[in-house]
Amino acid sequence: MLRIEGLSKTFHSTTEHAAVDNLSLEIPEKSFFTLLGPSGCGKTTTLRCIAGLEQPDAGEIFIDGMLVFSSRKRVSVPPHRRRIGMVFQSYAIWPHMTVAQNVAYPLKNLKKRQDEIEEAVRWALQLVSLGHMADRPAPLLSGGEQQRVALARALVESPTVLLLDEPLSNLDAKLREQMRVEIRDLQQKLGLTTIYVTHDQTEAFALSDAVAVMHSGRLVELGCPEDIYEAPKTAFGAEFLGAGAMLSGHIVGVESSGRVSVRTPIGDLWSRCGSAVAEGSAVQVYIRPEDLAVVTSSTPAEGRILDGHVRRLSFLGGILEWWVEINGVQLRGRSLTHSPESCLIRERVGQPIRFCIRMSRCVVASADASVESG
Ligand SMILES: Nc1ncnc2c1ncn2[C@@H]1O[C@H](COP(=O)(O)OP(=O)(O)OP(=O)(O)O)[C@@H](O)[C@H]1O
Ligand SMILES: [Mg+2]
Repeated sequence: MLRIEGLSKTFHSTTEHAAVDNLSLEIPEKSFFTLLGPSGCGKTTTLRCIAGLEQPDAGEIFIDGMLVFSSRKRVSVPPHRRRIGMVFQSYAIWPHMTVAQNVAYPLKNLKKRQDEIEEAVRWALQLVSLGHMADRPAPLLSGGEQQRVALARALVESPTVLLLDEPLSNLDAKLREQMRVEIRDLQQKLGLTTIYVTHDQTEAFALSDAVAVMHSGRLVELGCPEDIYEAPKTAFGAEFLGAGAMLSGHIVGVESSGRVSVRTPIGDLWSRCGSAVAEGSAVQVYIRPEDLAVVTSSTPAEGRILDGHVRRLSFLGGILEWWVEINGVQLRGRSLTHSPESCLIRERVGQPIRFCIRMSRCVVASADASVESG
């Protein structure tokens, strides 16, 4: 449906490295695809290149089988002929217009007939549940309503691809969650191929069929949410997608099964390492919060048992987050607030505690940063 090959873009005025660096992606029809990554990694630049608002330095872009950009063949289809709907990070609602006039704007530009425009605007406003606000002046809208207007305006032309650039970042937490569900429902109802941009991992996982993680303009992880969370290919991906700890160490043993032993500041750990590593080579070990458990009478130890100190608690509602320190390293764990585990931890702040790490689920990354789940 949408294919990008070798896309590159450098802004010579600001960046020493490319904003988008040799990016290749294939996005199936009707799928919800998310570009995820930290600020400045090139997400907006990628969307703008797809929309035709930015001229790439190199690469090719195909939309629905049509070549819309090629540096080699000198093809560049103008934005209004790419059949794309876009919602910008800032919404870009016109303040001097009503809701209906804002939504009609792209069609007016295409010189459509008045009755056609009215019909399309009614349809788009109904999709976002704003039919009753058509005549309201744009400045008299809440943040969530403005976001819906921007969405209706992106949908009014019946685009083949919808591009959404952090559309929920200005909304409060509750509304963000509600709009997340609405956007996903709308996308499925219309069967619309959608590319969504966010730096929020939870949002990306909740919405997407597939996620691409970007770092410094490059693609570092690609797959369905479960796969990239469970088996990240890079150390950056592991850290960005989870809330775990990354420990540096070196290999002290390699078994024929692929299992390796790693000497780390908290002692020797072991797991499977996908890439070939020799004894002595530097590696990183990634430990997720859910793979840490406190040893209680009802929770038997599993994996590597360690003794540390409880340093900090953080109450998150149904979940209690806690930090244990061992040899100067802090590891984050999580447990259900009303579990026996949490009761014990609450009593032990500043005191010793015995905990275990489920080693089979840890991720070992070789020095070249490519990793495999254990
Ligand atoms: N028009 C521009 N001129 C010069 N440099 C730019 C321009 N647009 C983006 N950049 C630079 O390119 C890099 C990628 O920017 P981009 O806006 O694509 O990041 P992003 O991933 O969308 O970040 P954010 O999450 O903060 O929106 C950044 O280093 C940015 O400073
Ligand atoms: Mg951006």
